[in-house]
Amino acid sequence: MNEFVSDFWSPWIAGVSLLSIVGCAVFLWATSIKRTDAKVDITGHVWDETLAEYNNPLPGWWTWLFYLTVAFSLVYVVLFPGLGSFKGILGWTSSNQYDGEMKDAATTYDPIFNKYLKMDVKAVAADPEGKAMGQRLFLTYCSQCHGSDAGGSRGFPSLADKDWLYGGEPDVIKASIQNGRNGIMPAFGGNPEAVGGEAGAKAVANYVMSLSSMPHDANLASTGKGKFEQACAACHTPAGTGMQALGAPNLTDKTWLYGRSEATIMETITKGRNGVMPAWKDFLGEAKIHLLTAYVYSLSQGN
Ligand code: HEC
Ligand code: HEC
Repeated sequence: MNEFVSDFWSPWIAGVSLLSIVGCAVFLWATSIKRTDAKVDITGHVWDETLAEYNNPLPGWWTWLFYLTVAFSLVYVVLFPGLGSFKGILGWTSSNQYDGEMKDAATTYDPIFNKYLKMDVKAVAADPEGKAMGQRLFLTYCSQCHGSDAGGSRGFPSLADKDWLYGGEPDVIKASIQNGRNGIMPAFGGNPEAVGGEAGAKAVANYVMSLSSMPHDANLASTGKGKFEQACAACHTPAGTGMQALGAPNLTDKTWLYGRSEATIMETITKGRNGVMPAWKDFLGEAKIHLLTAYVYSLSQGN
């Protein structure tokens, strides 16, 4: 415990702790000595008119229970850390207990994980037990963002459909999970030349809406088309079908990551978006990611 700034505090705290424990025992002993005037007396404390407190010693079994707790405390602080910076003779720490538990778990589960790691992702996806293990991992690590059915929500893509930001092939799914993803849609609000302020954003938004045949203002859309080609086509392609290498969504389909209303699309254009998928490589390791890949892959296979 090196957070103590001087050597004084550790013995001081240990001393106070020991003194308190021993103090309890002394106090117990002092109060259980038989009085010479042993006859039962009343302390003089009276409540509710007639309720009086008798001056009896504690029952013997109760006193011994107290002594037992004192003895327990002394044994405890010798075995475990509890007295200043003294580590206890067992050398127990929460982190080596955790490491031990992780090691036990590894002995139990590694053979199972390794069996699946040797199999192809598609084969694991077709294996009910492998898929179930992947699902349990998904519920633990992924469902808080992607939903327990992997159906996603605003800003968090559905993994259960056939629409992919980055791609739905096993190795692409695996790369998404291992390294994370960061979809960067630049904000055009502070860049009036590119889109043309609020009115320009409205025009481009109407053009975007026309791409998926949503109701839109045709005049605005035709103004927006040129701006789209200038400012947006580099990432979303001139046809608006998106680019998986950048995670730029397809704007011609019925799947929306953030929403399809004019106001939401304008907000996307003026303020930008920044979807972050954390990287799991270091935390979960290869075998668990393999099972997760197989589970995610299985979801969009329409069975
Ligand atoms: C903190 C929230 C969060 C957690 C937890 C999370 N994800 Fe994601 N994930 C995202 C976001 C946001 C995206 C979209 C990134 C973007 O917009 O570019 C994403 C994207 C993905 C993609 C790419 C989807 C596509 O359409 O190409 C996959 C695959 C994926 N996540 C799987 C997982 C798995 C498996 C886990 C659990 C190990 C997980 N995610 C945990 C937020 C999360
Ligand atoms: C630098 C590349 C890039 C450019 C330029 C770009 N986008 Fe995007 N756009 C993206 C990415 C990446 C996303 C996904 C953001 C995320 O995952 O959070 C996105 C998301 C969107 C969305 C949200 C789609 C949905 O499903 O909710 C819309 C709408 C959109 N862009 C329209 C445009 C328009 C209009 C322009 C031009 C004014 C434009 N983008 C320019 C990369 C780009």
